[in-house]
Amino acid sequence: MRHLMSPLDFSTEELDRLFDLAGDIERNMSKYAHACDGKILATCFYEPSTRTRLSFESAMLSLGGNVLGFSDAGSSSAAKGESVSDTIRTISCFADICAMRHPKEGAPMVAASRSGVPVINAGDGGHQHPTQTLTDLLTIRSLKGSLSNFTIGLCGDLKFGRTVHSLINALVRYEGIKFIFISPEELKVPDYITDMLKEKNIPYEEVIRLENVMPQLDFLYMTRVQRERFFNEEDYVRLKDFYILDKAKMELAKEDMLVLHPLPRVNEISVEVDDDPRAAYFRQVQYGVYVRMALILTLLDIHVD
Ligand code: NCD
Repeated sequence: MRHLMSPLDFSTEELDRLFDLAGDIERNMSKYAHACDGKILATCFYEPSTRTRLSFESAMLSLGGNVLGFSDAGSSSAAKGESVSDTIRTISCFADICAMRHPKEGAPMVAASRSGVPVINAGDGGHQHPTQTLTDLLTIRSLKGSLSNFTIGLCGDLKFGRTVHSLINALVRYEGIKFIFISPEELKVPDYITDMLKEKNIPYEEVIRLENVMPQLDFLYMTRVQRERFFNEEDYVRLKDFYILDKAKMELAKEDMLVLHPLPRVNEISVEVDDDPRAAYFRQVQYGVYVRMALILTLLDIHVD
């Protein structure tokens, strides 16, 4: 039985197959409409979500399967003190596969070790968010044709943003990637990540001003400041509007640069940017459904001819 805890759980060859499958799903949706007939996906979300949970549910429903779950720890037995291990053993009696989001780093991993069904990490604290990374990689591959040879700027909360950590981990396996980390001093990417980049000789720069690096970027990955992971509200208020991508900043960018964002957005991208053809964040949401469909099929070992 296979789980997904980190994007590195799949080799790059396996990821290529997954993305090819997602591409086929995009082009031939109806072919997959009954692939998961009779199968059940459980979504166990101990933290808020719109896209991740609903795109998992949309993915399973589009495959002909069914969904059940909870979207709030307070409405589950976690509120009575049940452990994640006991919850997953219970869920294993109800469902064929489970997507779990939890505020504690490592909780989905604990669940996977006790589960009778495949578990997908749908975000664990400030640690990893592998299915967002699959979404990001599929978006880049689909819109640019390749996952190699580009400069990507990651901007905003690089300290607590789990999507950032997962994406960097995944991208270091491709050729010719340069990272530019754009953040205030307090929200810099963790040392364990820059140590890993140094060890692998992967080029990166750390800067504070977005304007200065805009012309170099092939992709700009914007992120929200992760309010829920701050220790005090004052720091959040001071940092939350540090970056606001607007039309004027977009004028500094290449004509074919793409703006990605895992969403939700707060203020970091002005709505006036949404009409710019380089704004790819809502297309990214759509790719998230295709890639989750491909992932469910892969983990359940279901093949459609
Ligand atoms: C992200 C998350 O939950 O980490 N959202 C998502 O799943 N697309 C990003 C965020 O909340 O900022």
